[in-house]
Amino acid sequence: MDGRAVVERLLADPPRVHEELHAPPDVGVWLTERECYEFIADRVTPGARTLETGLGVSTALFLALGADHTCVVPSQTQVDVLRRYCDDHGIASNRLRVELGRSEDVLPRLRIDALDLYLIDGSHGFPTPMVDWFYGARLLRRGGVVVLDDRQLPAVAAVVEFLDADPRWRGLAHTDKWAAFERLSEGVLAEDWYDQPFYSGSLGLRAALARAWRARRGRRLFL
Ligand SMILES: C[S@@+](CC[C@H](N)C(=O)[O-])C[C@H]1O[C@@H](n2cnc3c(N)ncnc32)[C@H](O)[C@@H]1O
Repeated sequence: MDGRAVVERLLADPPRVHEELHAPPDVGVWLTERECYEFIADRVTPGARTLETGLGVSTALFLALGADHTCVVPSQTQVDVLRRYCDDHGIASNRLRVELGRSEDVLPRLRIDALDLYLIDGSHGFPTPMVDWFYGARLLRRGGVVVLDDRQLPAVAAVVEFLDADPRWRGLAHTDKWAAFERLSEGVLAEDWYDQPFYSGSLGLRAALARAWRARRGRRLFL
């Protein structure tokens, strides 16, 4: 089954993992947009190394696509519901590594091989999306992809605005709800202010400077 068909199947009968979080009763899960799942499905191939904060349809998708997947989530109940769903729907979950806990506690000590794709969709309160990016995205290989969901929320928007301005990340796709960037560097993300000359002035100016910087190198901004 191709990736788009997997998305179709999951959305037609999603895992009801978020009933404890008062998810909409018709689906029982806090979904993101179909386009976001399709973006992931188009890029994740069997054996891809993936990570996410939070759990949900995305987790089932990574597993159905055959990824070597690590999921950081604080709820054992959600993990149990997800594993039962996978068993009932013929989705292998033996490649799932669960790190039970809050991402801000787990990610700083997480040691795994370089990642191909990382979905940030756990806690959306300030500053957790930044913490998730800082400690999780450093594990991406050069050319790896980070996806941030719920960019309409201010703590996520701050990360997206920074990545939009930083020439070491290339925007791949976005809607009003999510955004995806390719990493053009590797290693740790910690740096001092003088390593971030693009990060001065207004955010609009920063984004314009970054666009000009990329355009000079003939890179396309969005595919
Ligand atoms: C919006 S839902 C994730 C939706 C999922 N990506 C999907 O496609 O269905 C948010 C998830 O983050 C989890 N979460 C909340 N706070 C967290 C934290 N500090 N660290 C990790 N996960 C967290 C919630 O329990 C929930 O599973």
